[in-house]
Amino acid sequence: MSNTPTLAETRQRLERTGQQHLLAFWDRLDEPRRAALLASVSRLPLEHLDSMLSQAASLAKPAAADIRPVRPYLRAMPDAEKFRSIGDDLVRRGKVAAFIVAGGQGTRLGWRGPKGTYPATPVAGKPLFRVFAEQILAAERAYGVRIPWFVMTSEANHDETERFFEDNRWFGRPRGDTMLFVQGMVPSVSRDGKVLLDSPHEPALNPDGHGGSLKALREAGALDHMQSSGIEHLCYFQVDNPNVHVIDPLFLGLHVAAPDSSAEMSSKSVLKRDVTEKVGVFVKAPRLTVLEYSDAPREISEARDADGGILYGEGSIAIHVIGVEFIRKLTDHPLGSVLPWHRAIKKVPFVDPSTGERVEPAEANAIKLESFVFDALHEAEGPVVLRTDRVEEFAPIKNATGEDSPATSKAIQVERAVRWLREAGIPVPCHANGQADCTVEISPLTARGPEDLRRHPPSRPIAAGAEVLL
Ligand code: UTP
Repeated sequence: MSNTPTLAETRQRLERTGQQHLLAFWDRLDEPRRAALLASVSRLPLEHLDSMLSQAASLAKPAAADIRPVRPYLRAMPDAEKFRSIGDDLVRRGKVAAFIVAGGQGTRLGWRGPKGTYPATPVAGKPLFRVFAEQILAAERAYGVRIPWFVMTSEANHDETERFFEDNRWFGRPRGDTMLFVQGMVPSVSRDGKVLLDSPHEPALNPDGHGGSLKALREAGALDHMQSSGIEHLCYFQVDNPNVHVIDPLFLGLHVAAPDSSAEMSSKSVLKRDVTEKVGVFVKAPRLTVLEYSDAPREISEARDADGGILYGEGSIAIHVIGVEFIRKLTDHPLGSVLPWHRAIKKVPFVDPSTGERVEPAEANAIKLESFVFDALHEAEGPVVLRTDRVEEFAPIKNATGEDSPATSKAIQVERAVRWLREAGIPVPCHANGQADCTVEISPLTARGPEDLRRHPPSRPIAAGAEVLL
């Protein structure tokens, strides 16, 4: 028997919450559409909507006077070897899983499928999901352990993502070691708080942001699964960065054993290129916070330290380690998560309940709510930041052209490959200006860093002008 509330119950609830217009077309709907409408209304958080909207509208930005710089750990820290070996041990003992958020819409890139299916690498044109899967597979081989991979999708791209993994035979890993699950949706509302109708029988919904990933992990049963299989830490990353080191023992070791860490959540940063780079930065206000570029007062974004360096320069690259226990704590909440709601005013087409006409608004007409995973840092005890090297770990693909595009990402991927070769003492053909005269891609299955190349150098020299896949 269905648990969906009846029409009478739904009508009462909608009257109580001021959303009666959602039934405006009831009399015109056929039975399947009526059932769909009742079911989707039953999932809307109508009783909480006003408080979600007012919380998002009143979200305070830290005042410049309350902001302090953070002091990150550096990869070349004195205890690096100790932390690396602690991290190695965690991975070897099966305490670690990989977690990708891939529910975004990828509007700026404009690719026809889920962003993870985008051919991102410079020579083989490997899709992003394959790059990550091969990294995980390479780590599994190196450590002799299975590393589960949690993949968050959205309603819009779940089926296609699953088909892609299936078509690629789960990239050579056992099917059961990859868990796909769908993130939550929240209603898109008009500026006066009315849930918009996407069609006569469907409320307009939008994905609840990458912050929704924590609640989604819990609702999908992933947290229970992790706890029963002994997984204690998640390596969190985004779908758009092929240079991410999915499993990084130094970062993991620091997360669990740095003197000021309580292993709840840790983050990686890269030094901002210049004061105008549009990137969120880690600051203390007084707790660790990511200050978004658009929220940063100029006196903060342009401040210099005594040596002329950028004072607030730790740019966030959306790479974290998150403790499983910490996620459980954050998600013990009636709305599924303690993370605050942010709002964006966007153009959302809708069906006008009074005329039945579909409206394509010329101006932004709607409030979209979403939450951000980095807000969890604010709740974490002793979060630490590890500054890492930009070329080594950050080659984002956001836009179709220009900055952070496939072209810039490929250039960075090649730069890293050339750097690894040189560090391993392998000759790389050069132009007169010292720039590499070749396009090289290194598969994660060939090398996880320069040390692997030193142990197993390429069988043939790299020719000038060549495109090489190692
Ligand atoms: P972005 O902020 O780059 O958004 O997501 P996007 O939706 O992918 O791209 P645009 O803005 O439409 O061009 C950063 C990461 O967070 C994930 C994305 O898949 C990406 O890995 N994400 C974002 C989600 O998983 N769910 C969301 O609701 C939003």
